[in-house]
Formats: sequence, C-alpha cells, structure tokens
Amino acid sequence: MKDSIDDIKAILALRPKIAVLTGAGISAESGVPTFRGSDGYWKGKSAEDLASMQGFSQDPHGVWEWYNLRRQKLKDIKPNPGHDALVRLEELASSFTLVTQNVDRLHQQAGSGQVLELHGSIWPVRCMDCDYQEDRFQVDLPAEPRCPDCKGWLRPGVVWFGEALPFGIMEKADHAVRMADLFFIIGTSAVVWPAAGLAWTAREAGAKVVEINLEETPATEVAHISLLGKSGEILPQLL
Ligand SMILES: NC(=O)c1ccc[n+]([C@@H]2O[C@H](COP(=O)([O-])OP(=O)(O)OC[C@H]3O[C@@H](n4cnc5c(N)ncnc54)[C@H](O)[C@@H]3O)[C@@H](O)[C@H]2O)c1
Ligand SMILES: [Zn+2]
Repeated sequence: MKDSIDDIKAILALRPKIAVLTGAGISAESGVPTFRGSDGYWKGKSAEDLASMQGFSQDPHGVWEWYNLRRQKLKDIKPNPGHDALVRLEELASSFTLVTQNVDRLHQQAGSGQVLELHGSIWPVRCMDCDYQEDRFQVDLPAEPRCPDCKGWLRPGVVWFGEALPFGIMEKADHAVRMADLFFIIGTSAVVWPAAGLAWTAREAGAKVVEINLEETPATEVAHISLLGKSGEILPQLL
C-alpha cells in the first residue's frame, strides 16, 4: 500500500488533470447507508423497488416515507475526511472533475466546486404533472408532498432505476475522464451503468486508474492501483 501511495503522490506533484467518480461508499463513514448488503432494504423492499417509477406508482406514500426518512437523517450528517480530501485534491490538480453517483450533496457541503451529479439529488423536488420544481435543501416535507400549482404528486430530484441521466451530463463526465492523467474510482460497487463504464473509458484513454474501496469490484480489473480500505482513511494519506 505504501509504494502505491508514493506512486500516486509522485503523479500529484506534477499537477495532473484529475477525474474522480464516487459512489455511496465515500459517504458511508458519514453515516449514510449504502444500497448493497443488509443496509439496502427498508420494510422488506430493495432500493430498486423503492427508487423506480414502478415502485412509486404502486406505493407513493411508502416511497415518500422512505425519502423523507433519508432526508431527515441527512440533515444531521456531515462530510467526512474523504470528502474533505477531495476538496484539497482539487487544489493540487491542473484540472479537476468530480463525478458522483451520490444524491446526498455532501461533496458540495465539504466545499467541492463543480460536481456532476449523475443521479441527481435528494433535495430538489419536481411535479410529476407540470413544470413546477424547487430546491428544498434540508427542508422537511409533508408525508404526501403535493405540487402547489396543480396538486399533482411531487417526486424527488433523483434519477430512478430505469430512467435517463440528466441531459448531457454523461458527455461532460466522459470528456473529463478522457482528458485525465489520473482517475479515481471511490466507494462504488461499479455495477450501476453507465457510471461504472467511466473506469473502462479512463483506462482506454490512458489515465492512471486508482480504485479505493473496502473490497474488489468489477472495476478492479481495469485499475492500475487498488487500495483496499476506507476512503476516509486512505484519501487523506495521498495529500
Ligand atoms: N449517499 C448517497 O447519496 C447514496 C447512498 C446509497 C445509494 N445511493 C445511490 O445508489 C446507487 C448505488 O451505487 P453505488 O455504487 O454508489 O453504491 P453501492 O451501495 O452499490 O456500493 C457501495 C460501495 O462502497 C464500498 N464502500 C463502503 N464503505 C466504504 C468506505 N468507507 N470506503 C470505501 N468504500 C466503501 C462498498 O464496498 C461498495 O462497493 C447509486 O446510483 C447512488 O445514486 C446514493
Ligand atoms: Zn404541478
């Protein structure tokens, strides 16, 4: 591990172009549950059941109960040393793009500049029937959130399973990854596409690929360096 960390430090000394992809794992040490394993179930339903149009259509009350619970918990949660280290990494890079699959906004709370939120954010809401949308950052919502304009159901501003990503965002992420000298893939199980594909793109385009995760993932095969452990402990060691 020490040799690998020294290799990365040597690259950082050259002010590289850096691209980063993060997943739920980087927020785990802040106390945000990931979706895989035993944390991924709520009242017997999986994240895929809850975070989908089909799941919402079948049980909008249940799905909002789940999101409201997550929103309430997130209000008290703070960024951890992993998020903080990425803010400092940005200062060492000649260009820096942070792509996240997380919907918690903890990167922005830590102070990261531009963040490409591939899967949107849990904080904004939008109407399912009209154009109404609003950012409700850290604001409690009613059990049954309705549109003030048309009384239709509001939904959270996240990308649900089976939905398209925000327009143009994958192109921006792809471009940054192709330009990068150094690519980090951190705390993601690398099974949700197209996000996971960025690791393969980075490798093909010639970046040095570094994975940080508690365990190996499908992306480990394209990583030049795999650092096994907690991102909140490993990332600060790079600085
Ligand atoms: N915080 C959030 O915003 C949040 C939380 C859960 C799920 N999600 C959504 O669910 C989907 C889940 O995919 P995913 O790949 O992001 O997460 P995931 O839950 O599938 O996988 C989490 C990964 O993080 C690793 N991990 C856990 N703790 C870690 C730590 N301390 N340090 C380093 N690695 C750690 C695990 O080994 C695992 O590979 C995403 O699309 C995301 O939008 C978001
Ligand atoms: Zn409406």
